[in-house]
Amino acid sequence: MSLPLRESEYAVTLKNDRLLRALLGEPVDVTPVWMMRQAGRYLPEYRATRKQAGDFLTVCKTPELACEVTMQPLRRYAFDAAILFSDILTIPDALGQGLYFSEGEGPKFHKVIRSAADVEKLPEVDIADELSYVTDAVSVIRKELNGTVPLIGFSGSPWTLATYMIEGGSSKDFRIAKQFMYDNPEAMHLLLEKLADSVTDYLNAQIRAGAQAVQIFDTWGGILSGNAYREFSLNYMTKIVSKLQKENEGRRVPVIIFTKNGGQWLESIADSGCDAIGLDWTTEIGDARSRVGGRVALQGNMDPTILYASPAVIREEVATILKSFGSGEGHVFNLGHGITPEVNPDHVSHFVEAVHEYSEQYHR
Ligand code: CP3
Repeated sequence: MSLPLRESEYAVTLKNDRLLRALLGEPVDVTPVWMMRQAGRYLPEYRATRKQAGDFLTVCKTPELACEVTMQPLRRYAFDAAILFSDILTIPDALGQGLYFSEGEGPKFHKVIRSAADVEKLPEVDIADELSYVTDAVSVIRKELNGTVPLIGFSGSPWTLATYMIEGGSSKDFRIAKQFMYDNPEAMHLLLEKLADSVTDYLNAQIRAGAQAVQIFDTWGGILSGNAYREFSLNYMTKIVSKLQKENEGRRVPVIIFTKNGGQWLESIADSGCDAIGLDWTTEIGDARSRVGGRVALQGNMDPTILYASPAVIREEVATILKSFGSGEGHVFNLGHGITPEVNPDHVSHFVEAVHEYSEQYHR
């Protein structure tokens, strides 16, 4: 039987632990950086793997392929973390909604939720068991990473997952999901309760399999009013955070909450018990730090479209964000949302190098 590693032994096995340290506000030599959607269509090698596999979901469901695409950006760039290659919509798929991707239209579901009866009919499934292809991918990736950088696991927030399940896919205005919430708040709460249980089990399974930090993507929390956000989104993320396994392999497993367009609610998000808040680019990171920087770490927040600009402009923007955060700990550099497919991969090198180069002065 192998015993869990003690902290000192583990520190030796993880060669670069900047991400985990920064998420907990501990000292680092330079600001760690990773990028939402760092494995994806802007990389020709990703497109080749996807083509070979046939489609995106096959890549997600084949642990060796998920591992291959997770590793691809790390071979090109000096990122301080890997993020599990998967999708937030694996949970609704496991709940029998029938996920598929139609070319050019994004995700879609064969079944949709439109009534309290639909919510009640959702099957009771063992999420960890149903999504064992994800936890298998986590194990394969950890082995392949071999202690170079930590692995981030993730899930969608209950609210964000619910919008896809009700709308049946992506939406511009979320008319059906919001009408459902306002007309059937009890059914909505029942759905969110079930999803919160699934997300908790899913993230704990990822942590047990080797995810060293986890991020909850609340991509659509920011479309709600403040009261609705607290009641229908943050409330459930708070419950999840309280039920996550806090430590594994002798080390704390930090939790990041990313609510896109959530800048006006940072104080409430910090109350959730999360270790870090992901920021989009619409909030000034220096202001965010003065509001909540004493309580949580901050992750962000460069506008992803700046990656279309010239390397000089990208470098300047990195310097501006680092200066806005200022000296001291608790910053993980990232984009404010995912990188888009049309970005030139060479521009990403400038982004990553600039973060490491320019941030040293803030950690003396
Ligand atoms: O960040 C990473 O590198 C890890 C992989 C990852 C993917 N999706 C791969 C993916 C992560 C963390 C996600 C999360 C995800 N998925 C979110 C939350 C984050 C966010 O972007 O706000 C959401 C809302 C989804 C749902 C989803 N999956 C949509 C709306 C789409 C289509 C969007 C598009 O760009 O076409 C997907 C597909 C998807 N997920 C792709 C990738 C690489 C593109 C699929 C392809 O190869 O064609």
